[in-house]
Order: sequence, then C-alpha cells, then structure tokens
Amino acid sequence: MKIIGINGSPRKQWNTAQMVESALKGAADAGAETKLYHLRDLDFKGCVSCFACLRLGAPTHGKCSYPDALKPVLDEILESDGLIIGSPVYVGDVTAAVRALFERLWFGGLAYNPEHMILYPRRIPVKIIFTTNAPQEGFHTHLNESVLGAMDRFIGPTEIIEANDTLQFDDYSKYDASMFDVAAKQKRHKEHFPLDLQRAYETGKKAVTEAV
Ligand SMILES: Cc1cc2nc3c(=O)[nH]c(=O)nc-3n(C[C@H](O)[C@H](O)[C@H](O)COP(=O)(O)O)c2cc1C
Repeated sequence: MKIIGINGSPRKQWNTAQMVESALKGAADAGAETKLYHLRDLDFKGCVSCFACLRLGAPTHGKCSYPDALKPVLDEILESDGLIIGSPVYVGDVTAAVRALFERLWFGGLAYNPEHMILYPRRIPVKIIFTTNAPQEGFHTHLNESVLGAMDRFIGPTEIIEANDTLQFDDYSKYDASMFDVAAKQKRHKEHFPLDLQRAYETGKKAVTEAV
C-alpha cells in the first residue's frame, strides 16, 4: 500500500507542506508506505501537446510520457494506492506547478473516444488540501468544484480539505500588508492551525482505509 504526497507550494516548510506531511503521517500510521514530492524541486513543464498519450499503437498511449522530472512522479502516482495533493490557492486557482501536474495527470488518461474516454485502468482515493488566506472554507467555490469534478472523473473518489486564514509571513511588519489583523492571524495560527494539521492527519489515515 503506497500513498504519494505532493506539496504544490513553492515553500517547502510552510502551511501546505506541513498539511501534506501531516496527512502522510496519518497514512503511514495507518500502515502505508509514503513518499513526498515537493514540486519546487522538480524541473518540469505543463502539457506540451505532444499527443504521445493519444497515439494509437504506441507504448505511450494512455499516459503522459513527456520525458522530464515529472514523468516518473506521474508513473508512481498511477501505480500508487492513494494520492494527497496540497496547493496554496494562488489568485483563485491552484499554483502553476500544480496546474501543470493536473494537465499532465488528467489529459494523459483521456481519449477523444466516447467508447472509452478514460484510459486509466484503476481508481485510487484522492485527498486535496487547499491552504488559503481567505478566512472561510469554500470561499473559492469554482476552484473546488472544478478540481473535484476532474479529479474524481480521471483518478478516483476525491475529497477536499482546507486550512483557511493561514499565517503568510513570519513578521508582517516587514511587508506591505496592513489589511491584516496581525494579532488575529497569529492567534489563528496558534490555536486553529494545529486543528487543521490534525484534520489532515485524519484525512491521510482515511485515504488508507479507502484504498483497501
Ligand atoms: C501569488 C499568490 C497568490 C495568492 N492568491 C490567493 C487567493 O487568491 N486566495 C487566497 O485565499 N489566498 C491567496 N494567497 C495566499 C496563500 O494561498 C496562502 O497564504 C497559503 O496558505 C500559502 O501557502 P504556503 O504557506 O504553503 O506557501 C496567495 C498567495 C500568493 C503568494
């Protein structure tokens, strides 16, 4: 049983990374082998429209085969038993790195063929973790709906959890960010973020239960 975690934040130790790590810890405690990738470390592109995934009779048919650093990660995801992806919300969407991964993960399994539109032979549980400055869950409704829909269709039953109103800077006084109530942000981080981490942990555990 293998669960793959992806941190789609360029920051490797901040909110999103911690949430993904906590989910992976839950998965590991439930008995899974886990692996974490920070997309920041990988040199890769979004879909380049090579269409090797659609090429009839080719060994590349049915998955993304563009040969860069994301290719082995995509292969590992498709062979895994569960997927956990974290992304901060950037301008109402996932980060560019996560979007690039989505393009290649989703489109790689698509056929323009009404008889078998999804080419992936297996389905695995997917847990999406969004972290946001927005104060409440579901603020980016359109994003949640579109990611849920596509992920569920291509990869497997999908659930989204969020950590909202995150602490964005160590020291707010150094930045042009006066709209924030710093004391409230720090209080939220101290009191609520640990609960978010706990929810991520439980979600990681659940991924293992759902995978068997
Ligand atoms: C380029 C950029 C765009 C952002 N856009 C949004 C946004 O549209 N909505 C939101 O709620 N937060 C937005 N944020 C805040 C981040 O989503 C939030 O601080 C997140 O928790 C950061 O994750 P990290 O600590 O893992 O890097 C943005 C941050 C950056 C750097």
